Amino acid sequence: MLLEGKKGLVLNVTNKNSIGWAIADQANLQGATVGVGAQNERLLEGVDKLLEGRERFDTFTIDFSFEEQYKILADAVAEKYGKLDFLVHSVGYAPREALQGRFIDTTLEQFQIAMNASAYSMVRLCQELEPLMNDDASIITLSYLGSTRAMKSYNVMGLCKAALEASVRYLSIDLGERGIRVNTVSPGPVNTISGRGVKGIMGMIDHVHDVAPLKRPYGQSEAAGAAMYLLSDLSKGVTGQILFVDSGYSIVAM
Ligand SMILES: NC(=O)c1ccc[n+]([C@@H]2O[C@H](COP(=O)([O-])OP(=O)(O)OC[C@H]3O[C@@H](n4cnc5c(N)ncnc54)[C@H](O)[C@@H]3O)[C@@H](O)[C@H]2O)c1
Repeated sequence: MLLEGKKGLVLNVTNKNSIGWAIADQANLQGATVGVGAQNERLLEGVDKLLEGRERFDTFTIDFSFEEQYKILADAVAEKYGKLDFLVHSVGYAPREALQGRFIDTTLEQFQIAMNASAYSMVRLCQELEPLMNDDASIITLSYLGSTRAMKSYNVMGLCKAALEASVRYLSIDLGERGIRVNTVSPGPVNTISGRGVKGIMGMIDHVHDVAPLKRPYGQSEAAGAAMYLLSDLSKGVTGQILFVDSGYSIVAM
């Protein structure tokens, strides 16, 4: 098994459609002990239901809007696991009004909320958990093509993903000193709660399925497959990269 004996965190999961859940589930099936994150106690109830009857799972809560929660999380993880072999950052948020209409109308408040939850949270998490990461550990985050291509409605989230992808490259340099890899999985649009926050997501999914080179759908499970490669020792020579999981949509021009 690819992750036999490894321990890691997947932050955060809301329900069975969360990309984070597909990653946590597959990591567990590959032999890992997985700490699954929920944003708050209310969302934790849903996560607990997903974990019923399953072994080698634990739960943690963290809301990245609250600075003090990073240390609380790190203390809880240190107590439960000691050290970590992997970390999955699977978080994105922007106020709903910022994900429709014109990008030019983005307010400073919307910008700051989105950047904090979706991009700075990755940096802050790595900062806080660095002492707990084993040498040669693997860290991944989830991004989207809207980081480098402009499209209607994705708006400020495109800037967040650009910042997130740049963070991955800079974190790779810092953490590479200890052999820790940092990479990005970039799925095409997927029907999740966050996905539905972007106006017109179902049309985007249909468009990608029509145009992409691979004439079969991709989704949470395919994203999780790519994540297994990046979290496992198979990818020990790979850092700072973006791995697209979109049936090849991102390479098509016409
Ligand atoms: N769904 C898509 O089309 C798509 C495509 C490419 C990338 N992604 C990315 O995948 C990742 C997971 O999203 P998903 O589609 O599985 O949706 P999801 O809604 O299931 O997961 C997003 C998670 O982020 C958490 N979150 C939001 N704000 C938070 C905060 N302030 N503090 C802590 N947690 C917070 C939510 O609780 C939720 O668990 C995100 O980074 C998203 O941008 C999604």
